[in-house]
Amino acid sequence: MNREVALPEGGLGELREADAGARAAPIPPMRTLGEVEQAGLRGLDPVIAAFLQGGSGSEVTLARNQRAFDQIRFVPRTMSGLAYPSAATSLFGRSLSIPVLTAPFGADGYFHPDGHVAIGRANARFGTCSIVPEAGTHSVEQVAAAAPSSALIGQLHPMGSEVNFLSMVRRYEATGYRALCLTVDCPTPGWREHNLRHAFNIDNRVVGGNYPPGAEIDMERALGQLHAQTEPVWSWGKLAELMTATSLPWVAKGILTPEDALAATTAGAAGVVVSNHGGRQLDGVSSAVEALPSIVSALAGGSVVLLDSGIRRGSDVVKAIALGADAVLVGRLSAYGIAAGGEEGAYRVLDLLRQEIETTLVLLGRGDITDLGRDAVTFGKGWDGS
Ligand SMILES: Cc1cc2nc3c(=O)[nH]c(=O)nc-3n(C[C@H](O)[C@H](O)[C@H](O)COP(=O)(O)O)c2cc1C
Repeated sequence: MNREVALPEGGLGELREADAGARAAPIPPMRTLGEVEQAGLRGLDPVIAAFLQGGSGSEVTLARNQRAFDQIRFVPRTMSGLAYPSAATSLFGRSLSIPVLTAPFGADGYFHPDGHVAIGRANARFGTCSIVPEAGTHSVEQVAAAAPSSALIGQLHPMGSEVNFLSMVRRYEATGYRALCLTVDCPTPGWREHNLRHAFNIDNRVVGGNYPPGAEIDMERALGQLHAQTEPVWSWGKLAELMTATSLPWVAKGILTPEDALAATTAGAAGVVVSNHGGRQLDGVSSAVEALPSIVSALAGGSVVLLDSGIRRGSDVVKAIALGADAVLVGRLSAYGIAAGGEEGAYRVLDLLRQEIETTLVLLGRGDITDLGRDAVTFGKGWDGS
Protein backbone atom coordinates (compact mmCIF):
# COMPACT_ATOMS: atom_id res chain seq x y z
CA MET A 1 0.00 0.00 0.00
CA ASN A 2 1.23 3.46 -0.78
CA ARG A 3 1.62 5.91 2.03
CA GLU A 4 -0.91 8.75 1.70
CA VAL A 5 0.58 12.19 2.17
CA ALA A 6 -1.86 15.04 2.63
CA LEU A 7 -1.70 17.59 -0.14
CA PRO A 8 -1.22 21.19 0.94
CA GLU A 9 -4.35 23.11 1.73
CA GLY A 10 -5.59 25.38 -1.03
CA GLY A 11 -5.78 24.79 -4.74
CA LEU A 12 -3.05 22.93 -6.51
CA GLY A 13 -2.59 24.69 -9.80
CA GLU A 14 -5.30 27.22 -8.92
CA LEU A 15 -3.90 30.31 -7.33
CA ARG A 16 -5.97 31.31 -4.38
CA GLU A 17 -7.60 34.62 -3.62
CA ALA A 18 -5.82 34.51 -0.28
CA ASP A 19 -2.39 34.64 -1.94
CA ALA A 20 -1.82 38.34 -1.35
CA GLY A 21 -2.63 37.92 2.34
CA ALA A 22 -0.46 34.84 2.57
CA ARG A 23 2.44 36.75 1.08
CA ALA A 24 2.15 39.51 3.62
CA ALA A 25 2.04 37.04 6.51
CA PRO A 26 4.96 37.37 8.91
CA ILE A 27 7.48 34.54 8.85
CA PRO A 28 9.51 33.12 11.72
CA PRO A 29 12.78 34.91 12.45
CA MET A 30 15.39 33.13 10.32
CA ARG A 31 18.76 34.83 10.53
CA THR A 32 20.84 32.17 8.82
CA LEU A 33 20.32 29.76 5.93
CA GLY A 34 20.59 26.90 8.43
CA GLU A 35 17.63 28.34 10.32
CA VAL A 36 15.62 28.57 7.10
CA GLU A 37 16.33 24.88 6.47
CA GLN A 38 15.26 23.91 9.99
CA ALA A 39 12.11 26.02 9.85
CA GLY A 40 11.21 24.64 6.42
CA LEU A 41 11.69 21.01 7.39
CA ARG A 42 9.87 21.43 10.70
CA GLY A 43 6.63 22.25 8.92
CA LEU A 44 6.69 19.31 6.49
CA ASP A 45 5.26 15.82 6.80
CA PRO A 46 8.32 13.61 7.58
CA VAL A 47 7.79 11.65 4.35
CA ILE A 48 7.91 14.87 2.32
CA ALA A 49 10.91 16.14 4.31
CA ALA A 50 12.76 12.90 3.46
CA PHE A 51 11.74 13.21 -0.21
CA LEU A 52 13.12 16.75 -0.30
CA GLN A 53 16.33 16.23 1.65
CA GLY A 54 17.24 12.79 0.42
CA GLY A 55 19.44 11.53 -2.38
CA SER A 56 19.80 8.21 -4.16
CA GLY A 57 21.48 4.91 -3.24
CA SER A 58 23.77 5.23 -0.23
CA GLU A 59 23.72 9.02 -0.65
CA VAL A 60 27.49 9.10 -1.21
CA THR A 61 27.20 11.74 -3.92
CA LEU A 62 24.72 13.76 -1.86
CA ALA A 63 27.29 14.00 0.95
CA ARG A 64 30.18 14.58 -1.45
CA ASN A 65 28.41 17.60 -3.01
CA GLN A 66 28.77 19.59 0.17
CA ARG A 67 32.06 18.10 1.35
CA ALA A 68 33.73 19.14 -1.90
CA PHE A 69 32.86 22.79 -1.25
CA ASP A 70 34.58 22.50 2.16
CA GLN A 71 37.75 21.32 0.40
CA ILE A 72 38.03 24.51 -1.61
CA ARG A 73 40.14 27.12 0.18
CA PHE A 74 39.95 30.84 -0.45
CA VAL A 75 43.11 32.81 -1.21
CA PRO A 76 42.36 36.25 0.24
CA ARG A 77 44.05 39.55 -0.61
CA THR A 78 44.08 42.27 2.03
CA MET A 79 44.16 46.07 1.92
CA SER A 80 42.68 46.03 -1.58
CA GLY A 81 41.09 49.46 -1.20
CA LEU A 82 37.63 48.09 -1.95
CA ALA A 83 34.57 50.22 -1.39
CA TYR A 84 31.46 48.17 -2.14
CA PRO A 85 31.35 44.66 -3.54
CA SER A 86 29.25 43.93 -6.61
CA ALA A 87 27.56 40.56 -6.89
CA ALA A 88 25.49 41.46 -9.98
CA THR A 89 25.74 39.70 -13.32
CA SER A 90 23.53 38.90 -16.31
CA LEU A 91 22.29 35.86 -18.19
CA PHE A 92 20.34 35.51 -21.43
CA GLY A 93 19.74 39.26 -21.55
CA ARG A 94 18.41 39.60 -17.99
CA SER A 95 20.33 41.17 -15.16
CA LEU A 96 20.68 39.21 -11.95
CA SER A 97 21.34 40.95 -8.63
CA ILE A 98 23.32 37.89 -7.54
CA PRO A 99 24.62 35.02 -9.72
CA VAL A 100 21.96 32.68 -8.37
CA LEU A 101 18.91 31.27 -10.14
CA THR A 102 16.36 28.98 -8.58
CA ALA A 103 16.59 25.39 -9.81
CA PRO A 104 13.75 23.60 -11.60
CA PHE A 105 12.40 21.26 -8.95
CA GLY A 106 9.08 19.52 -9.49
CA ALA A 107 6.49 18.57 -6.87
CA ASP A 108 6.84 22.08 -5.41
CA GLY A 109 3.24 22.06 -4.15
CA TYR A 110 4.27 19.62 -1.43
CA PHE A 111 6.42 22.35 0.10
CA HIS A 112 4.00 25.28 -0.28
CA PRO A 113 0.72 25.51 -2.18
CA ASP A 114 2.05 28.42 -4.29
CA GLY A 115 5.31 26.59 -5.09
CA HIS A 116 7.19 28.13 -8.01
CA VAL A 117 4.68 30.97 -8.20
CA ALA A 118 5.87 32.11 -4.76
CA ILE A 119 9.49 31.59 -5.80
CA GLY A 120 8.97 33.55 -9.03
CA ARG A 121 7.49 36.48 -7.12
CA ALA A 122 10.37 36.46 -4.64
CA ASN A 123 12.88 36.28 -7.49
CA ALA A 124 11.22 39.18 -9.31
CA ARG A 125 11.24 41.38 -6.19
CA PHE A 126 14.85 40.44 -5.45
CA GLY A 127 16.08 40.85 -9.02
CA THR A 128 16.89 37.31 -10.01
CA CYS A 129 15.28 34.60 -12.13
CA SER A 130 13.86 31.09 -12.10
CA ILE A 131 14.32 27.96 -14.13
CA VAL A 132 10.69 26.85 -14.15
CA PRO A 133 10.09 23.07 -14.10
CA GLU A 134 8.00 21.05 -16.49
CA ALA A 135 6.90 18.79 -13.59
CA GLY A 136 5.73 21.68 -11.41
CA THR A 137 2.48 22.09 -9.51
CA HIS A 138 1.46 25.15 -11.55
CA SER A 139 1.64 25.62 -15.28
CA VAL A 140 4.54 27.48 -16.84
CA GLU A 141 2.03 30.11 -17.95
CA GLN A 142 0.79 30.65 -14.37
CA VAL A 143 4.33 31.02 -13.05
CA ALA A 144 5.21 33.52 -15.76
CA ALA A 145 1.97 35.51 -15.35
CA ALA A 146 2.60 35.89 -11.61
CA ALA A 147 6.13 37.26 -12.12
CA PRO A 148 7.02 37.83 -15.78
CA SER A 149 10.46 39.36 -15.13
CA SER A 150 11.73 36.29 -13.29
CA ALA A 151 10.49 33.60 -15.69
CA LEU A 152 13.75 33.31 -17.62
CA ILE A 153 14.31 29.66 -18.46
CA GLY A 154 11.82 26.84 -19.01
CA GLN A 155 12.89 23.29 -18.16
CA LEU A 156 11.97 20.12 -20.07
CA HIS A 157 12.80 16.44 -19.96
CA PRO A 158 13.99 15.33 -23.42
CA MET A 159 12.29 11.96 -23.47
CA GLY A 160 9.00 10.35 -24.29
CA SER A 161 6.77 11.63 -27.08
CA GLU A 162 8.31 14.18 -29.46
CA VAL A 163 4.88 15.77 -29.91
CA ASN A 164 4.57 16.43 -26.17
CA PHE A 165 8.14 17.73 -26.03
CA LEU A 166 7.66 20.15 -28.92
CA SER A 167 4.32 21.29 -27.54
CA MET A 168 6.07 22.30 -24.28
CA VAL A 169 8.76 24.09 -26.32
CA ARG A 170 6.03 26.09 -28.09
CA ARG A 171 4.36 26.96 -24.79
CA TYR A 172 7.62 28.30 -23.38
CA GLU A 173 8.18 30.33 -26.56
CA ALA A 174 4.64 31.73 -26.53
CA THR A 175 4.94 32.69 -22.85
CA GLY A 176 8.10 34.74 -23.33
CA TYR A 177 10.73 32.49 -21.74
CA ARG A 178 14.19 33.47 -23.00
CA ALA A 179 15.90 30.07 -22.93
CA LEU A 180 15.30 26.36 -22.31
CA CYS A 181 16.96 23.92 -19.92
CA LEU A 182 16.93 20.28 -20.99
CA THR A 183 17.51 17.84 -18.16
CA VAL A 184 19.64 15.04 -19.58
CA ASP A 185 20.49 13.07 -16.42
CA CYS A 186 17.04 11.57 -15.90
CA PRO A 187 16.52 8.65 -18.29
CA THR A 188 14.90 7.00 -15.28
CA PRO A 189 14.48 8.21 -11.71
CA GLY A 190 17.36 7.52 -9.33
CA TRP A 191 17.20 4.68 -6.76
CA ARG A 192 15.62 6.67 -3.93
CA GLU A 193 15.39 4.43 -0.89
CA HIS A 194 13.63 6.99 1.31
CA ASN A 195 10.69 6.85 -1.12
CA LEU A 196 10.79 3.03 -1.12
CA ARG A 197 10.96 2.85 2.67
CA HIS A 198 7.94 5.14 2.98
CA ALA A 199 6.12 3.52 0.04
CA PHE A 200 5.81 7.07 -1.23
CA ASN A 201 4.64 7.79 -4.75
CA ILE A 202 4.32 11.36 -5.92
CA ASP A 203 0.73 12.45 -6.46
CA ASN A 204 0.26 13.30 -10.15
CA ARG A 205 -1.54 16.52 -9.27
CA VAL A 206 1.60 17.91 -7.60
CA VAL A 207 3.70 17.37 -10.72
CA GLY A 208 0.96 17.83 -13.31
CA GLY A 209 0.42 21.61 -13.38
CA ASN A 210 1.16 21.63 -17.08
CA TYR A 211 -1.36 18.95 -17.87
CA PRO A 212 -4.67 19.82 -16.19
CA PRO A 213 -7.60 17.43 -16.75
CA GLY A 214 -8.89 17.87 -20.28
CA ALA A 215 -5.62 19.34 -21.57
CA GLU A 216 -4.45 18.46 -25.05
CA ILE A 217 -1.71 16.32 -23.49
CA ASP A 218 -2.92 13.58 -21.20
CA MET A 219 -1.20 14.00 -17.84
CA GLU A 220 -1.14 10.35 -16.93
CA ARG A 221 0.45 9.49 -20.24
CA ALA A 222 2.98 12.33 -20.15
CA LEU A 223 4.03 11.56 -16.58
CA GLY A 224 4.01 7.84 -17.28
CA GLN A 225 6.49 8.43 -20.08
CA LEU A 226 8.54 10.63 -17.84
CA HIS A 227 8.71 8.10 -15.03
CA ALA A 228 8.54 4.75 -16.78
CA GLN A 229 10.42 5.54 -19.98
CA THR A 230 7.84 4.00 -22.27
CA GLU A 231 9.67 5.39 -25.29
CA PRO A 232 13.34 4.94 -26.12
CA VAL A 233 15.90 7.15 -24.46
CA TRP A 234 16.94 9.98 -26.72
CA SER A 235 20.42 10.64 -28.08
CA TRP A 236 22.38 13.87 -28.68
CA GLY A 237 21.76 13.40 -32.41
CA LYS A 238 17.99 13.29 -31.95
CA LEU A 239 18.10 16.27 -29.62
CA ALA A 240 20.18 18.28 -32.10
CA GLU A 241 17.60 17.59 -34.79
CA LEU A 242 14.58 18.43 -32.62
CA MET A 243 16.08 21.63 -31.27
CA THR A 244 16.33 23.09 -34.78
CA ALA A 245 12.56 23.64 -34.30
CA THR A 246 13.22 26.57 -31.93
CA SER A 247 15.41 29.64 -31.98
CA LEU A 248 15.54 29.76 -28.18
CA PRO A 249 19.01 29.06 -26.77
CA TRP A 250 19.20 25.98 -24.55
CA VAL A 251 21.42 24.49 -21.89
CA ALA A 252 21.87 20.80 -21.05
CA LYS A 253 21.40 20.13 -17.32
CA GLY A 254 23.09 17.17 -15.66
CA ILE A 255 26.55 17.30 -17.27
CA LEU A 256 29.50 15.86 -15.31
CA THR A 257 32.18 15.21 -17.93
CA PRO A 258 34.04 17.32 -20.52
CA GLU A 259 32.97 14.76 -23.16
CA ASP A 260 29.27 15.30 -22.49
CA ALA A 261 29.76 19.07 -22.27
CA LEU A 262 31.30 19.02 -25.75
CA ALA A 263 28.59 16.65 -27.03
CA ALA A 264 25.95 19.09 -25.78
CA THR A 265 27.50 22.13 -27.43
CA THR A 266 28.09 20.16 -30.64
CA ALA A 267 24.35 19.34 -30.55
CA GLY A 268 23.66 23.08 -30.42
CA ALA A 269 23.49 23.83 -26.70
CA ALA A 270 24.44 27.37 -25.67
CA GLY A 271 25.85 25.88 -22.51
CA VAL A 272 25.54 23.37 -19.71
CA VAL A 273 24.42 23.00 -16.13
CA VAL A 274 27.12 21.03 -14.34
CA SER A 275 24.95 19.02 -11.97
CA ASN A 276 24.31 15.62 -10.44
CA HIS A 277 20.69 16.53 -9.73
CA GLY A 278 21.49 17.28 -6.11
CA GLY A 279 22.69 13.70 -5.57
CA ARG A 280 19.27 12.32 -6.54
CA GLN A 281 20.17 10.43 -9.73
CA LEU A 282 23.25 8.19 -10.15
CA ASP A 283 24.86 7.70 -6.74
CA GLY A 284 28.64 7.39 -6.80
CA VAL A 285 29.31 10.10 -9.37
CA SER A 286 31.58 13.05 -8.70
CA SER A 287 30.36 16.11 -6.89
CA ALA A 288 29.29 18.79 -9.37
CA VAL A 289 31.87 21.31 -8.18
CA GLU A 290 34.76 18.82 -8.62
CA ALA A 291 33.54 18.18 -12.17
CA LEU A 292 33.39 21.91 -12.92
CA PRO A 293 37.03 22.89 -13.68
CA SER A 294 37.63 20.29 -16.40
CA ILE A 295 34.32 21.17 -18.07
CA VAL A 296 35.14 24.88 -17.99
CA SER A 297 38.49 24.24 -19.63
CA ALA A 298 37.00 21.88 -22.25
CA LEU A 299 34.42 24.49 -23.26
CA ALA A 300 37.16 27.17 -23.33
CA GLY A 301 34.85 30.17 -23.04
CA GLY A 302 31.94 31.12 -25.24
CA SER A 303 29.43 28.77 -23.59
CA VAL A 304 27.21 29.42 -20.60
CA VAL A 305 28.31 27.33 -17.61
CA LEU A 306 25.92 26.99 -14.70
CA LEU A 307 26.35 24.73 -11.68
CA ASP A 308 24.11 23.23 -9.04
CA SER A 309 24.18 20.48 -6.40
CA GLY A 310 25.29 21.27 -2.88
CA ILE A 311 25.08 25.07 -2.74
CA ARG A 312 24.17 25.86 0.86
CA ARG A 313 25.99 29.16 1.46
CA GLY A 314 26.97 32.38 -0.25
CA SER A 315 30.61 31.31 0.03
CA ASP A 316 29.76 28.18 -2.02
CA VAL A 317 28.42 30.50 -4.73
CA VAL A 318 31.67 32.51 -4.72
CA LYS A 319 33.76 29.30 -4.95
CA ALA A 320 31.77 28.04 -7.96
CA ILE A 321 32.11 31.40 -9.73
CA ALA A 322 35.87 31.46 -9.03
CA LEU A 323 36.11 28.04 -10.69
CA GLY A 324 34.44 29.32 -13.84
CA ALA A 325 30.66 29.05 -13.42
CA ASP A 326 28.65 32.02 -14.73
CA ALA A 327 25.94 31.47 -12.13
CA VAL A 328 24.60 28.73 -9.86
CA LEU A 329 21.19 27.23 -9.15
CA VAL A 330 19.75 26.51 -5.72
CA GLY A 331 17.27 23.68 -5.38
CA ARG A 332 16.71 22.53 -1.82
CA LEU A 333 17.58 25.94 -0.33
CA SER A 334 14.76 27.49 -2.31
CA ALA A 335 12.37 24.67 -1.36
CA TYR A 336 13.25 25.14 2.32
CA GLY A 337 12.49 28.84 1.85
CA ILE A 338 8.95 28.32 0.56
CA ALA A 339 8.32 25.57 3.12
CA ALA A 340 9.33 28.02 5.86
CA GLY A 341 7.34 30.99 4.61
CA GLY A 342 6.14 30.96 0.98
CA GLU A 343 7.27 33.99 -1.02
CA GLU A 344 8.82 35.68 2.03
CA GLY A 345 10.77 32.55 2.88
CA ALA A 346 12.07 32.30 -0.70
CA TYR A 347 13.04 35.98 -0.55
CA ARG A 348 14.85 35.47 2.77
CA VAL A 349 16.99 32.74 1.21
CA LEU A 350 18.08 35.09 -1.58
CA ASP A 351 18.74 37.96 0.79
CA LEU A 352 20.86 35.81 3.11
CA LEU A 353 22.79 34.48 0.10
CA ARG A 354 23.41 38.06 -1.05
CA GLN A 355 24.72 39.12 2.35
CA GLU A 356 27.01 36.08 2.57
CA ILE A 357 28.29 36.62 -1.00
CA GLU A 358 29.05 40.28 -0.35
CA THR A 359 30.79 39.56 2.96
CA THR A 360 32.87 36.84 1.26
CA LEU A 361 33.87 39.18 -1.58
CA VAL A 362 35.01 41.93 0.78
CA LEU A 363 36.98 39.53 2.99
CA LEU A 364 38.46 37.94 -0.12
CA GLY A 365 39.61 41.37 -1.33
CA ARG A 366 37.78 41.05 -4.64
CA GLY A 367 35.23 43.71 -5.51
CA ASP A 368 33.35 42.38 -8.51
CA ILE A 369 32.07 38.83 -8.75
CA THR A 370 32.31 38.87 -12.52
CA ASP A 371 36.10 39.41 -12.27
CA LEU A 372 36.72 36.44 -9.97
CA GLY A 373 39.22 33.91 -11.24
CA ARG A 374 40.98 30.69 -10.27
CA ASP A 375 43.56 32.67 -8.29
CA ALA A 376 40.90 33.27 -5.63
CA VAL A 377 40.88 29.60 -4.58
CA THR A 378 43.09 26.62 -3.94
CA PHE A 379 42.31 23.07 -2.87
CA GLY A 380 42.60 21.16 0.39
CA LYS A 381 43.34 17.49 0.95
CA GLY A 382 40.68 15.21 -0.50
CA TRP A 383 39.75 17.48 -3.41
CA ASP A 384 39.20 15.31 -6.46
CA GLY A 385 38.73 17.83 -9.27
CA SER A 386 41.30 18.88 -11.84
C1 LIG B 1 12.29 17.80 -4.69
C2 LIG B 1 13.15 17.97 -5.91
C3 LIG B 1 12.58 17.83 -7.17
C4 LIG B 1 13.37 17.99 -8.31
N1 LIG B 1 12.78 17.91 -9.55
C5 LIG B 1 13.52 18.18 -10.65
C6 LIG B 1 12.92 18.19 -11.95
O1 LIG B 1 11.72 17.97 -12.10
N2 LIG B 1 13.73 18.45 -13.01
C7 LIG B 1 15.06 18.74 -12.87
O2 LIG B 1 15.75 18.99 -13.85
N3 LIG B 1 15.64 18.73 -11.65
C8 LIG B 1 14.91 18.48 -10.55
N4 LIG B 1 15.51 18.51 -9.32
C9 LIG B 1 16.96 18.82 -9.21
C10 LIG B 1 17.19 20.32 -9.08
O3 LIG B 1 16.85 21.00 -10.26
C11 LIG B 1 18.66 20.61 -8.79
O4 LIG B 1 19.47 20.00 -9.76
C12 LIG B 1 19.11 20.16 -7.40
O5 LIG B 1 18.11 20.37 -6.44
C13 LIG B 1 20.36 20.94 -7.03
O6 LIG B 1 20.91 20.51 -5.84
P1 LIG B 1 20.64 21.23 -4.42
O7 LIG B 1 19.26 20.79 -4.00
O8 LIG B 1 21.71 20.68 -3.57
O9 LIG B 1 20.70 22.72 -4.62
C14 LIG B 1 14.75 18.31 -8.18
C15 LIG B 1 15.30 18.46 -6.90
C16 LIG B 1 14.53 18.30 -5.78
C17 LIG B 1 15.16 18.50 -4.42
